[in-house]
Amino acid sequence: MKGLILSGGKGSRLYPLTFTSAKQLIPVANKPILFRVIEAVKEAGINEIGIVVGVGSNARQIREAVGRGGRWDVEITFIEQAEPLGLAHAVKTAEDFLGDDPFVMFLGDNVIEGGISKLIGEFAHNEWNSQIVLTRIPNPQQYGVADLADDGTIRRLVEKPKVPPSDLALVGIYMFDKNIHKATHAIKPSWRGELEITDAIQWLIDNGYGVHPYVHRGWWIDTGQPGDMLEANDLVLEELDYTIEGYIDRDSQVGRRVKVERGAEVINSVIRGPAIIGENTRIINSYVGPFTAIYHNVTLENAEIEHSMVLEHSTIRDIEARIQDSLIGRNVTIERSPIKPKSLKFTLGDNSQLGIL
Ligand code: TTP
Repeated sequence: MKGLILSGGKGSRLYPLTFTSAKQLIPVANKPILFRVIEAVKEAGINEIGIVVGVGSNARQIREAVGRGGRWDVEITFIEQAEPLGLAHAVKTAEDFLGDDPFVMFLGDNVIEGGISKLIGEFAHNEWNSQIVLTRIPNPQQYGVADLADDGTIRRLVEKPKVPPSDLALVGIYMFDKNIHKATHAIKPSWRGELEITDAIQWLIDNGYGVHPYVHRGWWIDTGQPGDMLEANDLVLEELDYTIEGYIDRDSQVGRRVKVERGAEVINSVIRGPAIIGENTRIINSYVGPFTAIYHNVTLENAEIEHSMVLEHSTIRDIEARIQDSLIGRNVTIERSPIKPKSLKFTLGDNSQLGIL
């Protein structure tokens, strides 16, 4: 069995963060989402992994960050998709890599509780041509939704239905045998010009192939939008243990579920978990509240932050109001300016969102 991880796409719902870096490399609880996906695939016993990437600088970053897979003891093959023309198009692009082998396809921006070993085991021991993962969600209108017959088989799949036939959404994890290639060749692009994986699976169903639905009961997050990213961060941080690899001075108070990574320093500050402080980050005279992930090489000085994510090489200094519910990108500086007139001064990228008190 092979693994196919999709890390192409535009990530437009996460602009401006994803203008300059790949969404799949955004760290959730200080580990890039894509690394979490690779670990889940490896844990299921799969060592041959293809990663679909685009062609721009985001793709280059992914290639550099992942390398050849030695770190996870897997063999990584990168597959270039010239344009993000849909998930089924990504499968088509990966056909040479996949050959006739069965495979699991995992979207590189999805985070799931509990891994996928059980799923893979079930698929390997059955005669199904495909297994899809479903989960109950409150807002099925925004997802691909499955309509199940009384005997539990799938009748049909609908993309973003106005009137959903059920609350069972498709999670970004799919298992296929070689018959999926017939489907990706048979279907036509949808109204949005993409080859949809739901259409390919529907083709399998309509042509008599066995597609088995698996209902996942833990949490699952598709990190497409900023709120989802924070939610994924919350859920992963929930599982954090107390680990101190950095330095904490005597004037600081650090709560139980806190991780302070290598080279980090906490000086005269309060950290209330669950929270994680990245490598070589400095927290000085500050408060870090629950559900906060501060990534590597950040400086937080005379500031308060809670339920937020801060990416690498950013600086937050001398801010009176507490920062909350925020997603702060790389190389960002937020500080008090002594220059008159007393006013708010910004340099913000396109599509930034700022809430002023
Ligand atoms: P999406 O979140 O559906 O698309 P996107 O990443 O382009 O984001 P947006 O809608 O905000 O512009 O993609 C899900 C995953 O699949 C994501 O990791 C990117 C990947 N993908 C591909 O690899 N190739 C594709 O053609 C598409 C559409 C997505």
